[in-house]
Amino acid sequence: MSTALITGASSGIGAVYARRLAARGHDLVLVARATERMAALAAELHKAHEIAVEVLTADLTDAAQLQMVANRLRSGSPVEILVNNAGAALLGPFEAADPAAMEQLLKLNVTAPTLLASAAIGGMVKRGSGAIINLGSVVSFMPAFFPGIYSATKSYVLTFSQGLAAEVGPKGVYVQAVVPAATRTEIWERAGADLSKIPNLMGVEDLVDAALVGFDRREAVTIPPLSDLGLWEAFEGARAVLPSGLGAQPAERYRACASA
Ligand SMILES: NC(=O)c1ccc[n+]([C@@H]2O[C@H](COP(=O)([O-])OP(=O)(O)OC[C@H]3O[C@@H](n4cnc5c(N)ncnc54)[C@H](OP(=O)(O)O)[C@@H]3O)[C@@H](O)[C@H]2O)c1
Repeated sequence: MSTALITGASSGIGAVYARRLAARGHDLVLVARATERMAALAAELHKAHEIAVEVLTADLTDAAQLQMVANRLRSGSPVEILVNNAGAALLGPFEAADPAAMEQLLKLNVTAPTLLASAAIGGMVKRGSGAIINLGSVVSFMPAFFPGIYSATKSYVLTFSQGLAAEVGPKGVYVQAVVPAATRTEIWERAGADLSKIPNLMGVEDLVDAALVGFDRREAVTIPPLSDLGLWEAFEGARAVLPSGLGAQPAERYRACASA
């Protein structure tokens, strides 16, 4: 069976991906900082499913450790599924945000998934097969309701996924953006939020199981909490026709301003 590499596999969504992909018979590479948690999960999944499980301890905000994970994607047994799941939230307004904390968030939520996809993509295109799953968030649709840069990092993930899908889909590589709403994991408490105050929390197993239904259907974008698919299709439809409205001259409404 093929190998799946999952970042952020020590808890939450990543740990459930590990369980589900193990049950499907994939060998696993688990990546996160918490070695003991991953070792316990690896032992359990190896025993239950007779799969091989590697544990890679890495802080993905550290360039050398990120490179070590990228090296694993480029060599060793081929990785057929990359789950770019590791991520964190940063709460509070932009004007109060610590620049160092924002830099760490950008490294984890933006740089790491980009460079890991880059490391994986060459082999996948060469083999004409493979899949990359990137974890976005519905807050990228509602940036005005989520202060700070977390929503922008997840907008990047969605745009990156859709652009990459258009590029490598015809070469046999499947790219899926998974877009959860609030899900019951450690992410909110790690960011200092009170979980009891967050409404409509989805169970983490429900989230991953739904995302895998979308994966099996080869959906480009899977939004598990969205009941009315028509809303997303209208949103994407509007974007699809926008380029036909773009001209080489500034739009009429800006010409008066320019000459004033
Ligand atoms: N839960 C939600 O409501 C929700 C909603 C939308 C999107 N998401 C996205 O879902 C993804 C998974 O989050 P989750 O909800 O499952 O949260 P979680 O339980 O806090 O899991 C985050 C994972 O990322 C790992 N991680 C954090 N910082 C890391 C670092 N510097 N280097 C390497 N690994 C690191 C953590 O492991 P270690 O601490 O062991 O490193 C952990 O395994 C994230 O991308 C998140 O943005 C979550």
